[in-house]
Amino acid sequence: MPEPVLNALQNDLVDYRGRGLSVLEMSHRSSDFAEIAAKAEQNFRQLLAIPDNYAVLFMQGGASAQFSLCVQNLDTNNKVAYANTGYWSQKAIASGVPLTQTVEVTRCTTEPTIRIPHSDTWSKADDASFLHITDNETIDGIVYDRLPDSSIPVVSDMSSSILSQPVNIAKYGMIYAGAQKNIGPAGITLLIIRKDLLERSEHAQLPPVFQYAAMEKAGSMLNTPPTFAWYAAGLVFEWLLEQGGLAAMAERNKRQANRLYKQIDDHAFYENNIHEDNRSCMNVPFRLNDESLTSAFLSGAQANNFIGLKGHKSVGGLRASLYNAMTDDSVDALLAYLESFAREHS
Ligand SMILES: Cc1ncc(COP(=O)(O)O)c(C=O)c1O
Repeated sequence: MPEPVLNALQNDLVDYRGRGLSVLEMSHRSSDFAEIAAKAEQNFRQLLAIPDNYAVLFMQGGASAQFSLCVQNLDTNNKVAYANTGYWSQKAIASGVPLTQTVEVTRCTTEPTIRIPHSDTWSKADDASFLHITDNETIDGIVYDRLPDSSIPVVSDMSSSILSQPVNIAKYGMIYAGAQKNIGPAGITLLIIRKDLLERSEHAQLPPVFQYAAMEKAGSMLNTPPTFAWYAAGLVFEWLLEQGGLAAMAERNKRQANRLYKQIDDHAFYENNIHEDNRSCMNVPFRLNDESLTSAFLSGAQANNFIGLKGHKSVGGLRASLYNAMTDDSVDALLAYLESFAREHS
């Protein structure tokens, strides 16, 4: 999270703006919290230029709950199409399998580099209720360079890419994102859903807190929401607006990622095998050509205060995440470490 947001949270933790109580203690029905909640939604809408025919929902259960809930709320044809681009797509498909007929319309090609095929080449599933995609594969470092053409609504898991760049919301049926990358603390999940799709969920046999139409009617407050996470997300949205909004974030994210990819590509010592069109600006996975040096690389990284550079256990290797809060100074430091480790071990 951005440091100014962490500092503001610390200031407000014990006493929210002289009210004599913390946001942690506030009723979600209080006027102070109503103001916090409404302002957060308003700023989120402004950042992403969300049209009026889309609802914003603040839900719980993380993105993993949405893997099932999007099917339970939106599947009217007992068929859902999936693009399989990596680890999180596969998790979404596995959640869909017990609930509906799942159709995998594409998967990444791997030769000579990993790439998402152009949607012209995907299998057709026009009778599916929707197409599910994972905008940014957090573990694999694979991102869409363009939104697939689709005759059915697109539901996109943007957990690790939301707020990293502007998005043409009107092209989507629904977007969902767990908070813990670019939004704020874990505990809240944001949904942007086209209002006509809400009707599909009206008869879903689900607890009302998981039913999109019911949550929309109740302003996401059918029960006590994670108030502190909602408040913290609101501070992040304010910080993003102060930075110049998502166009400015996209420029900064791209610049930081390009510098890191260039360093990896320029050195025979490191490698990333994702096609340049599908390289993620948020998650940069890479390997050492001599993988026996990986643990020495990680020990050196830890000694230099780099946290979390180890790749996910399913793929191994290394991964640098460059979420919105990453500073240019931290990227400079990482590049210097990559350079010095390569020099020392070449
Ligand atoms: C793209 C993507 N989808 C889903 C998830 C799962 O999110 P959650 O832990 O909020 O269920 C993650 C978590 O990292 C993710 O990166």
